[in-house]
Amino acid sequence: MQIQDTVSTRQTFFTGENGLWLPPQESTTAGAIDSLFNFILYTSTLLVVLVAAAMVYFVWKYRRKSHADRAIDVKESKWLEISWIAIPTLLVLVVFFWGFTAYVNTSIAPANAYEINVKGQKWFWTFEYPNGIQTSNEIVVPVGTPIKLEMTSQDVLHSFYVPEFRIKHDVLPNRYTYVWFEAPEQGTYQVVCTEYCGTQHSNMGALIKVVSYSEFEDWVATGGGAGQGDKSLVEYGESLYASKSCNNCHSVDGSDGTGPSWLGTWGETRQFDDGTSAVMDAEYTTESILYPGNKIVQGYLNQMPSYQGQLDSLQVNALIAYMKDINGQATPAELAAPGEEPAGGDAPEATDTGTGDPSDPQGLATE
Ligand code: CUA
Repeated sequence: MQIQDTVSTRQTFFTGENGLWLPPQESTTAGAIDSLFNFILYTSTLLVVLVAAAMVYFVWKYRRKSHADRAIDVKESKWLEISWIAIPTLLVLVVFFWGFTAYVNTSIAPANAYEINVKGQKWFWTFEYPNGIQTSNEIVVPVGTPIKLEMTSQDVLHSFYVPEFRIKHDVLPNRYTYVWFEAPEQGTYQVVCTEYCGTQHSNMGALIKVVSYSEFEDWVATGGGAGQGDKSLVEYGESLYASKSCNNCHSVDGSDGTGPSWLGTWGETRQFDDGTSAVMDAEYTTESILYPGNKIVQGYLNQMPSYQGQLDSLQVNALIAYMKDINGQATPAELAAPGEEPAGGDAPEATDTGTGDPSDPQGLATE
């Protein structure tokens, strides 16, 4: 998944070219955040060392067996008292105004910023562009352009964090929060959720792909690469399985997740927690994708978000084709690239597709 793809990004946390394990600075505001961080780190280190050194010195000097002179009264020292009030107050004020400026600068986007809507939900991110393109767990943005994120949550608290951009902002239900960034370099950057939001919290990641302006325009013109393209229905379903984050909860190898595995279930009778049952077919599966709460498979919780409005009917069909393929039941038409003659006639459903398979008399009859 995405998070494993960018292990190299995470390694820079520890091998750090910026020293102090900080990831590379990849946004226009990252430098200001790091300077403030370093200022606080170095002044606190200095203060800790000074206070601890004085403490150790006095412990040693006035240890019980020492002959240090304890007889004189301690007299007040004006300059000492003024300095321990004035210096920390000044430091705190510097940090406040510096931090406030940096906060305002990362919170208020420039007026010409390109706006993208962000929605967090258990356990993935969806992004919506001004022209209606929707993506999951991936945004493509142009280099050198301010990008404003308008963020909200469908369910619980999440937090949108991009270490390389030094931006981190809570994403709340029933409220909009904003953050912006401008990436001066092309590259791929990891988004992580930094608010514990449930069992799959640690897998709730996304990628920000910063590309050249012309690449971005191409990407927008082709609908964000989210279409079927020249993929077969099964391959399209497989790509949606990952890009729409079905893989967070449903395995395809039979292993148990937050939801039931897709392997070994197609065509089987599913028992629901209200005592009813149904055969897992296209109708039941479509209902479960769009209205997941209607039928809850026994032994699982009602946790799945509705995909209504997030998948069109072609995409639902593609996911169903992929589920059938995992269980060895995809039809030749579902396995064929668009516009291509379906290959072979050995799949059991070949006779009821009527799509022009050479071995299918009904298909021939319709031509
Ligand atoms: Cu969403 Cu953690």
